[in-house]
Amino acid sequence: MDFEVERAMSISGKAIQLDNGLRLHTLDGGSGTPLLFAHGFPLDHSMWRHQLEALALDHRVIAADLRGFGKSDSLPGPASMPAIADDLAMLLDALQIPQVVFCGLSMGGYVAWQFWERHPERLRGLIICDSRAAADSPETARGRLIMAERVRLEGAAPLIEAMLPRLFSAQTFQQQPAVVAAIRQTMAGTKTGAIAAALEGMAARADMSWRLNTMDVPALLLAGEDDVISPASEMRTMASAMPDARFVAIPNAGHLAPLEKPVEVNRAILEFLQERVT
Ligand code: MLT
Repeated sequence: MDFEVERAMSISGKAIQLDNGLRLHTLDGGSGTPLLFAHGFPLDHSMWRHQLEALALDHRVIAADLRGFGKSDSLPGPASMPAIADDLAMLLDALQIPQVVFCGLSMGGYVAWQFWERHPERLRGLIICDSRAAADSPETARGRLIMAERVRLEGAAPLIEAMLPRLFSAQTFQQQPAVVAAIRQTMAGTKTGAIAAALEGMAARADMSWRLNTMDVPALLLAGEDDVISPASEMRTMASAMPDARFVAIPNAGHLAPLEKPVEVNRAILEFLQERVT
């Protein structure tokens, strides 16, 4: 999948060295308003393949493998959402890009809220796909820590079995088995240390729902109508709490709407960019 994305964009991924010593594997191509993509858990930049292909025609697109994922380095300890947001700010420093539209899916959305909090001057817009602003309940957080231990001991299989059935709409499972198989493969290839570190980081993440009404950056919140992890109804409520946000629901898509329904997602993103981001 990686190779196909790179070939379609006529660019190759490269390792970018950050000031904190990390090297992040990053795709960077196209020209125009810069769009920074942050992938979901436990995936890599290739989940954005359709957006990178389509949007690079008239935007600069930057998609990194977040710390530990894909071909990127990891650092010891939990992968906190603020630390990942800071990695991405350092990545922009290294690429000499002052401002971006930040597009994050699920865990990438948790990182986007932290990017808004810590690097607001770098943000021209927010695109949040299939994500939440609330923190984990204590029970969910405990479950993540238990899963982190299991993954360290047993490998990624228990996580894949628990998570894969919840990632897609019924239609995607029926009609796009290759998409499901590719995501299973990506999950199975993800380093177990990165999975565990991100589970710990997500379990500890802050509740940002009470901050939504202060996020006055132009925002698009986009949800698969059949998403059972980040329900569309919750995202609609989040968008209505934000001063300058629009909400778009994608029919017959689940938690990975950008992969399941790329045409519809790309249309929503392009309309938002054309109308709201100058
Ligand atoms: C993701 O897709 O990034 C995960 O579903 C996030 C989460 O587990 O909360």
